[in-house]
Amino acid sequence: MYNITLIPGDGVGPEVTEALLHIIEIMDIELDYTIAYAGDACYKETGTTIPDETLSKSKKADATLFGSVTTVPGHKSAIITLRKELDLYANLRPVKTYPGVNCLFDELDFVIVRENTEGLYSGIEEYTKEGATALRVVTRSASERICRFAFKHAEKTERNKVTAVHKANVLKKTDGVFRESFYKIADEFPNLDTDEKYVDAAAMFLITRPQDFEVIVTTNLFGDILSDEGAGLVGGLGMVPSANIGDNNALFEPVHGSAPDIAGLGISNPSAMVLSAVMMMDYLGESYEARKLENALLDVLREGNVLTPDLGGSSKTMEMAQEIKHKLRIN
Ligand code: NAI
Ligand code: MG
Repeated sequence: MYNITLIPGDGVGPEVTEALLHIIEIMDIELDYTIAYAGDACYKETGTTIPDETLSKSKKADATLFGSVTTVPGHKSAIITLRKELDLYANLRPVKTYPGVNCLFDELDFVIVRENTEGLYSGIEEYTKEGATALRVVTRSASERICRFAFKHAEKTERNKVTAVHKANVLKKTDGVFRESFYKIADEFPNLDTDEKYVDAAAMFLITRPQDFEVIVTTNLFGDILSDEGAGLVGGLGMVPSANIGDNNALFEPVHGSAPDIAGLGISNPSAMVLSAVMMMDYLGESYEARKLENALLDVLREGNVLTPDLGGSSKTMEMAQEIKHKLRIN
């Protein structure tokens, strides 16, 4: 039995959460859910986007599943607060093609490991006479721990190479520290190959030769941008899941936001949420169940009969969920 904190959130978040729960209720994995609130609707009700109660529920849980929230400019970001408070320092974003999904390339399967706690997102900004400045914080401890996570992940998933992405030729000190940390940790993993790319070149190679990547490890902002580029390679935001992992806690969420343009229409693609649950099951050590769920989705995508509009179909969220559940049942 696993204790899961469930944060449906706003917009399409509750829709894809409902779809997921509908699918996995027939699986052989016992998940005990505790619902928690965050986001804009929560703000309107309680005056905060992320109540302490939600943070403590997530800290206590074996894992948190997060739908998506609407972030109003000027309000505290619920997801960034969760990442910080739970010290979820590794953001894992797989870039994987699925059959039947219109992708720019076939058979991509790499992962971006993004440092999640510092860099340009340290949140240290100030106004100056001329405009404003932001502080780009890069520590050796955070760099070493994210690089170690990336190498360990490569080992665990039987990949051969880890590529550091940085801009150490210009950001000589901050990315100098990141690059040195990368090679220091690489020495602990003599069986894995290393590579490095400047971020601008990496952005190009992601479009021209994405199949050359296996594991990318990079700082916060670069990872944020490159992982959305990665999403574009494999069918868009409706398809890509993510994991936020720390030493004691983990949170799983689709990369997409609350999609206000389609919220309430019942046509959001549940795949990113389903694949986030697949990542959660892998994290919990339930790899057998994870593969079963992933394969059920794969069958539905491959057949292409019951797909949401973003995938070129005309089905509703719950119809696609029903079809995935059907595949689970008959497999
Ligand atoms: P978004 O990811 O919500 O939407 C971008 C585009 O992708 C839209 O056209 C949307 O319809 C489409 N899309 C997203 N999810 C989809 C799905 N499951 N199925 C089909 N199509 C899907 O990003 P946007 O519009 O920039 O932000 C909307 C709100 O979400 C904002 O308030 C933003 O702050 C918030 N946001 C929250 C995130 C989170 O909860 N982790 C992440 C990104 C944005
Ligand atoms: Mg992003």
